[in-house]
Amino acid sequence: MSAVTKPLLDVVQGKRQERPPIWIMRQAGRYLPEYRAVREKAGSFLDLCYAPELAAEVTLQPLRRFELDAAILFSDILVIPDALGQKVRFEVGEGPRLDPITPEALIGLDPKGALERLNPVFETLRRVKSALSPDKTLLGFCGSPWTVATYMIAGQGSPDQAAARLFALRQPKAFAGLIDILVEASVAYLVAQLKAGADAVQLFESWALNLDEAAFRAQVIEPNRRIVAGVRAQIPAAAFIGFPRGAAGMIAEYAATTGVNALGLDYSMPVAFADMALPRALPVQGNLDPLRLLAGGEQMEARADEIIAGFSNRPHIFNLGHGIGPDTPIAHVERLVEIVKRGR
Ligand code: CP3
Repeated sequence: MSAVTKPLLDVVQGKRQERPPIWIMRQAGRYLPEYRAVREKAGSFLDLCYAPELAAEVTLQPLRRFELDAAILFSDILVIPDALGQKVRFEVGEGPRLDPITPEALIGLDPKGALERLNPVFETLRRVKSALSPDKTLLGFCGSPWTVATYMIAGQGSPDQAAARLFALRQPKAFAGLIDILVEASVAYLVAQLKAGADAVQLFESWALNLDEAAFRAQVIEPNRRIVAGVRAQIPAAAFIGFPRGAAGMIAEYAATTGVNALGLDYSMPVAFADMALPRALPVQGNLDPLRLLAGGEQMEARADEIIAGFSNRPHIFNLGHGIGPDTPIAHVERLVEIVKRGR
């Protein structure tokens, strides 16, 4: 029996490929009419996340249309606060809304009970795994503690994360307690995802911007390191992609200290700088600006070529430098996948 290889997982584990494999952050989503149809039928966004049959269906939708190398679990980073007992709602056209958390309310959060409430997510993974072709990589994920905490404290997204930054500075003990809860819940959540069939997991640190270097070490590097170590204590071979968006000059330290297998780069990261700053063997993922994909045409193709050429000497997974936007034309995604796989 010849073992089927998974090219994208191979790259995460350090094996360079002739052409980079590709997946697209937020690849299941509103730019797809078939997603919008299921989303409508599901009721609320969280209802969709907790309905394994529908969540498995939308996880697989982008792979039916495009020659992508990975499926990513359909869920959200905010199922963790929801499972911990903080009320989360998604307002149409406005993004997430959470009842903001006070230091006192932290005591009410329940990391032990959280995992049970996330059982539908593990069922989604099992369903996807059994339907997915064996050469495709199945990715699980969670939000990193700092990023999740920014939503928990502000109650919504914010441009500068000032509420969480001030909370961390003014009430360091309470804040560290919140991070501890999130690390514990995330480790258990990712272990269960890997046991349910995820081949690798991505840590979404989407708000690693706006932190000075000391805060970046304390709030980003250290909690991500604890998650990687905590999961590997139970599953030694667990494969991680870290995505610290906005890490800038801290990328090399993030990669070395956290121990992630591969590093997701945002689109503001210069290709040549990343290539120089990171160890030769470290796999990278990224990093096309999602607006270049939305706009499409020659500028998109030329930039995709630059990224592929710039990372041609190391293991590279092609991706966007942040999530795909809802107004992105499907034809542009088709073209991007084609040129990444086969060149122009
Ligand atoms: O990538 C995938 O296709 C898998 C599913 C996935 C979603 N969210 C589905 C989703 C993943 C991996 C996420 C991660 C996520 N969620 C992040 C990290 C990635 C990033 O973009 O930085 C963050 C910050 C969130 C929190 C979140 N969820 C926000 C801010 C929003 C509203 C903004 C928006 O894009 O609408 C969501 C909602 C959300 N999560 C949608 C989807 C498809 C759209 C809601 C809908 O369909 O009604």
